[in-house]
Amino acid sequence: MKNLINKDSKIMTKKISIAIDGPAGAGKSTIAKATAKELGYLYIDTGAMYRAIGVAVMDRGYDPKCADDVIKTLDSIHMDVTAKEDGQHILLSGEDVNGKIRTPEASMAASAVATIPEVRYKLVEIQRGLAKQGGVIMDGRDIGTYVLPDAEVKIFLTASVETRAKRRYKELLEKGEKCTLDEVISDMEARDKQDSEREFAPLKRAEDSVLLDTSDKTLKQSVQALIKIIREKI
Ligand code: DC
Repeated sequence: MKNLINKDSKIMTKKISIAIDGPAGAGKSTIAKATAKELGYLYIDTGAMYRAIGVAVMDRGYDPKCADDVIKTLDSIHMDVTAKEDGQHILLSGEDVNGKIRTPEASMAASAVATIPEVRYKLVEIQRGLAKQGGVIMDGRDIGTYVLPDAEVKIFLTASVETRAKRRYKELLEKGEKCTLDEVISDMEARDKQDSEREFAPLKRAEDSVLLDTSDKTLKQSVQALIKIIREKI
């Protein structure tokens, strides 16, 4: 494994699995995507899968907090996830849902459906299947603790609540969403609470993970810090 990454950060030999967990808005997907590109790895966004289920439940006029409604939806859809160099694609019964999963409603619905074990069983099976090919950076809440407990590198990515909320607020404004910073902070706190207090596979730092706080880091600095951790761990 010694020659895994050369001095230009390119992967040289065997490809490993890298697990990144952390609370909402810590920058996981942006940082993981950029790192995956740099290393020639595939990026797998597990939050997008929970979002897709949440959106499917809402599209049917059901309540994402109602386990019966969610399980009915789950039984009636086929989810197809592919991870390629150009990114991850999710098809729900043939429909490309990537365009509609990034709203504040989809975030809350995702967090609600994620408390339901049947949802997690289904998605974790897909996630482990995708990771089998090796050379993946997977982000979520339970990757290092539950989905890929044997991942060679585990990172817990975090930032202060103010930093995370400001980043998310900026993203939402850029997309034309109407919201206030206070709303983003309170949504984020509610989601973090629900994600860390649920019974099954809650958001929790894996004991063997490395903590990376990006509060005072730019995207570039965060990616550099992550690559440094990966290099030190292998
Ligand atoms: O990473 P994200 O913000 O796109 O995730 C949306 C929600 O999905 C999050 O609030 C909780 C849930 N989730 C989860 O429970 N487990 C994961 N591995 C990924 C996401």
